[in-house]
Amino acid sequence: MAKATMHFPPDFRWGTATAALQVEGNNENSDWWPWEQQPGAILHGQRSGRACDWWANAEADLDRAAEMGTNAHRLSLEWSRIEPEPSVFDRAALDRYREILQGMIARGIEPMVTLHHFSNPLWLVEKGDFSTGLVVDYFRRYTARVVAHLGDLVPRWVTINEPMVYMFMRYVAGTFPAPRRKGLLSGLEALRNMMRCHAAAYHTIKEQYPQAEVGIAKNIALLKPPPDGGRVQRAWAKRMSWIFNDMWMQSMVTGRLRLPAGRGRIPHLAGSFDFFGLNYYTRFYLRFPRLAPETDWGDDAVVSDGNYGEVYPAGLFEAIQAANSYGKPIYITENGVPDAADRLRPGFLITHLREVWRAISFCFPVMGYYHWSLVDNFEWDRGWTQRFGLIALDPETQQRTLRASGRLYGEICHSASVSSDMAARYAPQVLPVLFPG
Ligand code: BGC
Repeated sequence: MAKATMHFPPDFRWGTATAALQVEGNNENSDWWPWEQQPGAILHGQRSGRACDWWANAEADLDRAAEMGTNAHRLSLEWSRIEPEPSVFDRAALDRYREILQGMIARGIEPMVTLHHFSNPLWLVEKGDFSTGLVVDYFRRYTARVVAHLGDLVPRWVTINEPMVYMFMRYVAGTFPAPRRKGLLSGLEALRNMMRCHAAAYHTIKEQYPQAEVGIAKNIALLKPPPDGGRVQRAWAKRMSWIFNDMWMQSMVTGRLRLPAGRGRIPHLAGSFDFFGLNYYTRFYLRFPRLAPETDWGDDAVVSDGNYGEVYPAGLFEAIQAANSYGKPIYITENGVPDAADRLRPGFLITHLREVWRAISFCFPVMGYYHWSLVDNFEWDRGWTQRFGLIALDPETQQRTLRASGRLYGEICHSASVSSDMAARYAPQVLPVLFPG
């Protein structure tokens, strides 16, 4: 009998999350495919290749997700599969997505579907993708086709994943496939077009399915001044945090662009979200006048594989508080840790879910938690070097092994709770912190 148990609401969504390019395999019409072949683009020259083989057999992992007791999954659609050439829609690809979604529902797993998650059709890049206003009509047309084919199966949509991260990686850092024009100014122009795309998709979905919920997946990165920082550092971190975390959301509320993204109104943008999809991973220290965060978290910090970030559960509560200020239901659409040896993940799950439980106890409307990720997958520019899965994958042999954290998540999902007994068995180091006495 556990000494203490944190119970979650009976209708809570216990989920996992993936993105098309990272799991499907052989997305040859995506801009990532040629990009991955360029020397130096991906760590150690790795490729997405067959990825997790989901295009052929997502069902095998969906079986594992169902066994784990999850009742929700967030996945994305690969635009380049659905529309491999401009205005040529591939019916077989749409049918395959339909089959995957039906497979989820048959297993008791509610789908959440993302329309754009970091990858573009090659033809769209040639036309200038988000750097040109043309993209808005293309995105509307793609959305309309997808919704006509799949809309009856999807209660909840995410239009665009992490627009600020996407803009930064692609236009500023250059670690994602290059756009036709790089640089901060082009990036800001792209942001404006992404907002227009979001608004177009929101209303396109609502026209066909007024009861569907539509939102965005917004990464909240806790940007803080370095511990030794004074007034200038605090002001810089605050400003950058506003730009990265708040600017986009405030535009979605008011329908107006805010500087530095520009000025003016974006038609039909105001109020165009039904929930806040929150992606949270870590906190960063920013040192004036740099845009890129420090890569040193200090001696006491617990840092995950590949120096990806600090394990900082309290930040999830802070991020939920920030999301709550928008007054909409909140879904944790991503949260996870790269940890091949699974030495951190069990404790990570327990301590982060404790913050979710605390938020729910404060009556913040957190409706679900989608762990990133179900199975190790292709981690963008970092290739296969970072392993986020509850299930370990050998991409060569496609062999899978359930990690201890996967067993723990299974117990959590099946019981809709986190207990001191689970902590004692899976992550005893967190016991004194979470369940003192
Ligand atoms: C992205 C995922 C990615 C994860 C871990 C998020 O920013 O949405 O695609 O795999 O972070 O790095």
